[in-house]
Order: sequence, then C-alpha cells, then structure tokens
Amino acid sequence: MKFIVVANWKMNPSSFREAKVLLEATRKAAESARHASVIVAPPAIFLRDLKKGYKGKKISFALQSAHFEAGGAYTGEISLAQGKDAGATYAIIGHAERRAAGESNEDTRKKVAAALAENITPILCVGETKRSNSGEYFGFIKEQLHAGLADLSGTALGRIIISYEPIWAIGGEKTMSPRDMHEMAIFIRKSAIEMHGDKGMGIKIIYGGAATESNAAQMLREGDVNGLLVGHVSVNAERFASLLQAIEGAV
Ligand code: PGA
Repeated sequence: MKFIVVANWKMNPSSFREAKVLLEATRKAAESARHASVIVAPPAIFLRDLKKGYKGKKISFALQSAHFEAGGAYTGEISLAQGKDAGATYAIIGHAERRAAGESNEDTRKKVAAALAENITPILCVGETKRSNSGEYFGFIKEQLHAGLADLSGTALGRIIISYEPIWAIGGEKTMSPRDMHEMAIFIRKSAIEMHGDKGMGIKIIYGGAATESNAAQMLREGDVNGLLVGHVSVNAERFASLLQAIEGAV
C-alpha cells in the first residue's frame, strides 16, 4: 500500500538553483520511502526544467494552480495543457490560498473537468475557515464538494484526489485530531456516494494542514486518509525526509 504525499512548495524557493537542490534532496528521500508516492508541486516557472533534470521514477509533478480555459487573454495565468506540456500530471485545484484570492466553487468545477480532459489528475482542495460546535462546516464542505465534483461521471471519481485542509490548521505545527479527520473522511465519502452512487466509496482522500514529521504517522494510521498534502515542511529538505521516514513507520 502506498500513501500519496504532495509536496506543495507554494511560492518557494526563491531561485531555480535552490529549487534544484531541494528537488535532489526530495529525490533521495523519496527513493528510500517505499510506501509513499511523492508528488512535487513547485512554482510553475521551475516545473519544466526540474522535470527535465529529474531522472528518477518516484516523483511526479503537479501544478499548484491552473486556469480552466485552454488559452486566451488571461494575463498571468497558466493553462492545464501548458502545465502538461511542461511535465505536470497532477494539478492542485481550489487550494485555500487560491480561494482566498478569489477562486470560486464554480471555478473549481470547471478546473476539475478541464484537468480530467487533459488527463491530469485533479487534487481538489476543500476545507472550512473555522469550526464551531453547531457543525455548520459540514454544510460548507458539502457545497465545495458538490460544486467541484458536479461535472464528473462516477468513473471519473476514481481519477480524482480530494485534499481536505482545514484552513485554521494550515501553516502551523498542529494538525486537526486524526479522529476528527476520520469523521470528515466518512462525511466526504458519504457526499461522494450521494452524488455518484457506490463509486463514491473509493474516492481518494488526503489530509493537508500542518502535516509534519511528528504527526504524519498518526494521521495516516488513524485519520482514514490515503496520504498528506505538505506545505512548509516540504521546502525544508531535512524535515521532509523525516516526514517520509515517519510514514514508513506508519505502514
Ligand atoms: P502547511 O500547508 O503544511 O504549511 O500547513 C498545507 C497546505 O498547503 O494546505
């Protein structure tokens, strides 16, 4: 069994030289991690050259974001086809930081469909800003899922990854409790089943938000998830290597 580990580098590092060094360290760590499939999402400007210089087989590459249109007057944007041409086989869609910058549920719906059409695996991010005891965040997550998965067929559901990321945990050192993640995983599956019948049962779910070398194993053992989306720890070569090692211990 293999866990999915997405290394979301965000807007780091600041030069291609550093990006190469980080990828080399990531490659070494990934090669000794037998139970992890590593997906690196570098800044798009580094993607093509990183992919070209990468000789291994363990790492796949992802876009951090992409436009749903195939081309046109969208200054500053990147299309999924361009990402694919540069070597991406995955695309993060609807990350909390993109949603904060204006990406809507409707955008995620179009992007998921556009990614699948390009044969790129969408990693659809969902997550609430805050929690309260009344549990209205479930409704919020459901809305995000219903929008993001609206255009899919049941068969396509097997080609998508849902990354659940409570926004209040992102950037810190403490994840949500694995037990709460377990509850959320059941909820996500239930929502997928509501939309697409039994096929929803097998939907892949990963957790993002302060995943670190100290909490990764527990989250994978008890959180009912297929992997992790790692932000700040993934740009620290030593910490990321420890995180991958910890995953080996979780199997
Ligand atoms: P973090 O980021 O690991 O720095 O919390 C996670 C994310 O990008 O969602």
